[in-house]
Amino acid sequence: MLTVVPRPVTVRAPSKVNLHLAVGDLREDGFHELETVFQALSLGDDVSIVPAPATSVTVRGEDAASVPTNSDNLAWRAIEMVAAATGHSPDVAITIDKGIPVAGGMAGGSADAAAALLAADALWNLELTRAELHSFAARLGSDVPFALTGGTAVGTGRGEKLLPVLSRNTFHWVLALAKGGLSTPAVYRELDELRSKGSPPRLGDSKELMLALASGDPTRVAPLLGNDLQAAAVSLQPDLRRTLRAGVTAGALAGIVSGSGPTCAFLCSTADAAVEVGAELAGAGVCRTVRVATGPVAGARVVPRSSRG
Ligand code: C5P
Repeated sequence: MLTVVPRPVTVRAPSKVNLHLAVGDLREDGFHELETVFQALSLGDDVSIVPAPATSVTVRGEDAASVPTNSDNLAWRAIEMVAAATGHSPDVAITIDKGIPVAGGMAGGSADAAAALLAADALWNLELTRAELHSFAARLGSDVPFALTGGTAVGTGRGEKLLPVLSRNTFHWVLALAKGGLSTPAVYRELDELRSKGSPPRLGDSKELMLALASGDPTRVAPLLGNDLQAAAVSLQPDLRRTLRAGVTAGALAGIVSGSGPTCAFLCSTADAAVEVGAELAGAGVCRTVRVATGPVAGARVVPRSSRG
């Protein structure tokens, strides 16, 4: 009898940086109303799935040990959700190759969830529509829909209502990865706390940033980068102030905390400038490690078998 060995499906999903993250008030459902501009970055995770006797998660890469390997893992939850909705067995072995810092404010868990959704769609030949995938994604987390769509987009609601943004050119980023992680809910709570005690400045709208992105000029984009969560992330991890200063001293056009942090993202004028800023930051002892990335890149995509390493 011929035994058919099932082939794994691999999906690559991008990380993100919020070029603009305006946090509104706390809603009754525990989320904050956002107006944010996301950009998908080339730093990504690869998620592979293959049928197996039971659901499992294996995580490889630098921070692998701090990623849950049970049903708390967002990729596992994505598989379970699609399986339950489509009548398939969720018994797959999930392997996650992490390129995105864990708990770093770059939506690594969300990328894994988006990748797992597409992988399940491909493995089980579901041919889910974009709208169906988006609806699963929004149930899994606020940043999961953007990991599916990629590019540059404005997000409202929890961040899950997306519209594409016209962005010319490729932007060059340096990412300073911090020693520990920050919990997203803790950073939002800290912002609420800071706001209850005083009135930290709030970002305005993103209209000027949209024009700058359409021009493709990083020197116009840089002064318009902003993140309402930055004050809260810095309050919880005061060392970030030094990291942010060091990047600009090293020649970056601007630096911001990425999402809820603690990763700091520095926009640079060219690819060469990014390599230089990265090297200086790495030598300055202000972060755990440094990565260079470009954006915007595409959202989650199946990796053809021929191009897998
Ligand atoms: O949606 P996600 O699971 O990524 O959100 C994690 C946590 O971040 C939420 O439980 C909430 O505390 C906070 N959050 C928020 N407002 C948002 C998005 C996230 O308060 N718009």
